[in-house]
Amino acid sequence: MEYETVELDDKDDALVIIDQTKLPGKTEIIRLKTAQEMWDAIYLLKVRGAPAIGVAAAFGIYLLAKQIDTADYSTFLAEFRKQKEYLDSSRPTAVNLSWALKRMEKIVTDNGDKSVEEIKRLLKTEADAIKAEDIRVCKTIGEFGLTLVKPGDGILTHCNAGQLATSKYGTATAPIYLGEERGYHFRVFADETRPLLQGARLTSYELHSSGVDVTLICDNMAATVMKNGWVDAVFVGCDRVARNGDTANKIGTSSVAIAANYYNVPIYICAPTSTIDMNTATGADIHIEERPAEEVTQMWYRERMAPEGVKVYNPAFDVTDHSLIAGIVTEYGIAREPYEESFREIFARKENA
Ligand code: MRU
Repeated sequence: MEYETVELDDKDDALVIIDQTKLPGKTEIIRLKTAQEMWDAIYLLKVRGAPAIGVAAAFGIYLLAKQIDTADYSTFLAEFRKQKEYLDSSRPTAVNLSWALKRMEKIVTDNGDKSVEEIKRLLKTEADAIKAEDIRVCKTIGEFGLTLVKPGDGILTHCNAGQLATSKYGTATAPIYLGEERGYHFRVFADETRPLLQGARLTSYELHSSGVDVTLICDNMAATVMKNGWVDAVFVGCDRVARNGDTANKIGTSSVAIAANYYNVPIYICAPTSTIDMNTATGADIHIEERPAEEVTQMWYRERMAPEGVKVYNPAFDVTDHSLIAGIVTEYGIAREPYEESFREIFARKENA
């Protein structure tokens, strides 16, 4: 794709994103300058997908720090923390948001002996590094993921864990893009992903425009496609992985995992190590975001599809039990049961890299 999901325009002090709520009909690039604009863009899913939210938050907090008009370190730190907490409150489930903001905060707290101007420069370097790492990490996840499938395989994916959810390649789509470059010719099935249709609007759009053989299906068709024998593997992304391997991802992922297990199709979670949260013991400890009823009762808040006053339950994510997962593909290798042990090995590899 010819545009970037998230970019920094340092000269104009703007966080530049493609407004994903307008896709695929309209490619609209928007420039965010205030904390409120950044918060709204994350909450309203103009920028979404765990890694992309992390990169947007890193550039965002850098731009907000740049605006803090003081040479006094304590005043700077207090104001920085206020802005950080505010951005962090935009969405609760994707750990990458708080992970990126904590990384940025560490730059401020580790460099208290430097001038505020120097700290602002270091914040820019760190935000650039977070984005560059995201690209490298996604590509490596793609290489590991590719070892799990063979040319011509059918792959099912849910939601959008693609280029639009990251800085490049995506996580769950990285093996698909790399395979395409190498002539694997996968047949991809993209779940539409109700209620906000990330699969229909974003995944099928980005794969189709890249020449990948993609078939869009409604969420309730996934089991049929598996029963037909058309799916050899499921690749999905994730928003937070608990220490025991339980994985939060877009609502509907656990139903896909249950169907995949029933039909003996392996389901792989593609997870940058930044999404593995060793401080969260199990899926029961993950905060699942609940979103407005209108996302369910009205198509994109426009045309009403349900009766006025009907009760709605609209969790944005669900947790897939680790026992259903065949492997968690990270940039440092593929984690398998028992996950806690496997994650510790992966983090040790990362430490020694
Ligand atoms: O609500 P969204 O669109 O931000 O949900 C996104 C997902 O669930 C993705 O699968 C996840 O963030 C991984 S993106 C690589």
